[in-house]
Amino acid sequence: MKMPCSPLNIGDQFPNFEAETSVGKIDFYDWMNDSWAILFSHPADFTPVCTTELARVAALIPEFLKRGVKPIALSCDTVESHKGWIEDIKSFGKLTSFEYPIIADDKRLLAHQLSMLDKDELNADGLPLTCRAVFIVDEKKKLRLSILYPATTGRNFDEILRVIDSLQLTQTKSVATPADWQQGGKCMVLPTVKGEDVPNLFPKGIETIEVPSGKGYLRTTPQP
Ligand code: BEZ
Repeated sequence: MKMPCSPLNIGDQFPNFEAETSVGKIDFYDWMNDSWAILFSHPADFTPVCTTELARVAALIPEFLKRGVKPIALSCDTVESHKGWIEDIKSFGKLTSFEYPIIADDKRLLAHQLSMLDKDELNADGLPLTCRAVFIVDEKKKLRLSILYPATTGRNFDEILRVIDSLQLTQTKSVATPADWQQGGKCMVLPTVKGEDVPNLFPKGIETIEVPSGKGYLRTTPQP
């Protein structure tokens, strides 16, 4: 029996690779340069949900670039297929340009390596298609987030931008972001922050929410 590759965990080094894309051959690390990247896969070209997703990412390019994040898509189709489909995506999304690459993983090398194949979604030849995987990789090439969605559920890219905002905020400030946090909203003080360090770390102050346990762990602060 063929064993699946072990999935990457948060904090792992994201592997480098060379691949053909809609804009030519790339070395992933060189392409990233000093940016972050979001690598996201989709089941197949010329499919409806995927078309909405890739159009949405194209429209959000300024938002990704504002955060220093370069998007790159992937499916198990060829470069020629991607190039033809990009015209449909542009037409659907009313886009004048399409400014990120789509990896042509028609041999399924990356799909296997990054455990992106969905055994329940098969193409006309009975081969598994890629699920809707999302990998966010930071400038040090470390995996910061991974999510797998099934083929039948298109992704919410506002949520993905929200996660990027949280990742970038919490890597430099001693806070975590609570449920449904949005940019500018209240943050939670990390449980590891000692009381004596609060004035220095949180000049805007903190609030401790009383709970029955009496443990003062629910501490909020305005977004630093
Ligand atoms: C879609 O993109 O619409 C799709 C692709 C594969 C399976 C289901 C939906």
